[in-house]
Amino acid sequence: MFCKTWVMSALCAVALSAPTLTYNPGAVERPVEMQILSEYFQMLGDKVQAGRSMSEAPVCNMNNAVLPVASPTPLPPPSAGLSLKHVAIGRGTQNYSCATGNQTAAPVALGALATLYNATCIASTYPDLLSILPNVALQFNLTSPDQASLSPSNLAISGHHFFSNTTTPDFNLNTTAMDLGFAPCSKNNTVAAPTGAPKGQGGVGNGAVAWLKLVTRDGATGGLEEIYRVNTAGGNQPATCAGMPTTFEVQYAAEYVFPPFHLKLLQ
Ligand SMILES: *[C@@H]1O[C@H](CO)[C@@H](O)[C@H](O)[C@H]1NC(C)=O
Ligand SMILES: *[C@@H]1O[C@H](CO)[C@@H](O)[C@H](O)[C@H]1NC(C)=O
Ligand SMILES: *[C@@H]1O[C@H](CO)[C@@H](O)[C@H](O)[C@H]1NC(C)=O
Ligand SMILES: *[C@@H]1O[C@H](CO)[C@@H](O)[C@H](O)[C@H]1NC(C)=O
Ligand SMILES: *[C@@H]1O[C@H](CO)[C@@H](O)[C@H](O)[C@H]1NC(C)=O
Ligand SMILES: *[C@@H]1O[C@H](CO)[C@@H](O)[C@H](O)[C@H]1NC(C)=O
Ligand SMILES: *[C@@H]1O[C@H](CO)[C@@H](O)[C@H](O)[C@H]1NC(C)=O
Repeated sequence: MFCKTWVMSALCAVALSAPTLTYNPGAVERPVEMQILSEYFQMLGDKVQAGRSMSEAPVCNMNNAVLPVASPTPLPPPSAGLSLKHVAIGRGTQNYSCATGNQTAAPVALGALATLYNATCIASTYPDLLSILPNVALQFNLTSPDQASLSPSNLAISGHHFFSNTTTPDFNLNTTAMDLGFAPCSKNNTVAAPTGAPKGQGGVGNGAVAWLKLVTRDGATGGLEEIYRVNTAGGNQPATCAGMPTTFEVQYAAEYVFPPFHLKLLQ
């Protein structure tokens, strides 16, 4: 009802989709998840309160979007002249192999499989909310790669992320709702996720995957040129293959920016 009185796409896009929220059973045994969700709902509540006192609803203006900067070592900035095309929350798994059977070897990255959800308006309106969304989303497994919206928000699906070979991450942003293009990529730069980045579901895991700058390969459509992976949550493999199966998945979430806006940086 608040979406009707408040003609404002951004908050409506993160507003709770209560019927899909089946989190309560066993909640007391999961204090860390509860704390993550409680921080999220508190922030949402504050936005609603702030919105009520505004004379006009905030507008989804991409000029206000910011690119989070890794600290202490930032990724190279976006190339000059690029404008913001899309911001998505990616939710899925990082895949690893321990196929050699060597228990002391490190698991080998096979790639990722994730569903992308449209967060462009949140990026331009509430970057603080956006920065915690990967960790919130990490607490809920997808029921399928085609899950229409991202629990516990109602962000709509905007594409899929997968690997066509181990060095080629692909982003397919061509859905029935919108065609923002297709981007086969290669890695341009990587920096460790900041200290304190969410380690995994329930705060337990091997840490957050690195922040990345990707550049598109030949064949990209939709004017996509550079893609950043930031605000990562979970996804890292254990240090060794000890006790691990031949292949395994680690749940992760991240913010993907296609391509970042001008150099307005969020420290
Ligand atoms: C979905 O993505 C498109 C392209 O980035 C953007 O114009 C639109 O505002 C987005 N919608 C929401 C609700 O974020
Ligand atoms: C197993 O992996 C470790 C660590 O990479 C390496 O030092 C060792 O040589 C490997 N053992 C075999 C049998 O390949
Ligand atoms: C998500 O799925 C993995 C198996 O892929 C499972 O180990 C994990 O407990 C699930 N997490 C939640 C929060 O349901
Ligand atoms: C992976 O795919 C890319 C793009 O199609 C190609 O350029 C590259 O040679 C491939 N790499 C391997 C190891 O097959
Ligand atoms: C997007 O998908 C539609 C339907 O599959 C297809 O006709 C169109 O060519 C695609 N666009 C791009 C840029 O590949
Ligand atoms: C990353 O991009 C910069 C600027 O385009 C380029 O100079 C550099 O060679 C690239 N590095 C890699 C590893 O692709
Ligand atoms: C790894 O990713 C592929 C898709 O790329 C998927 O089909 C598979 O189930 C995943 N999991 C494992 C353990 O390989």
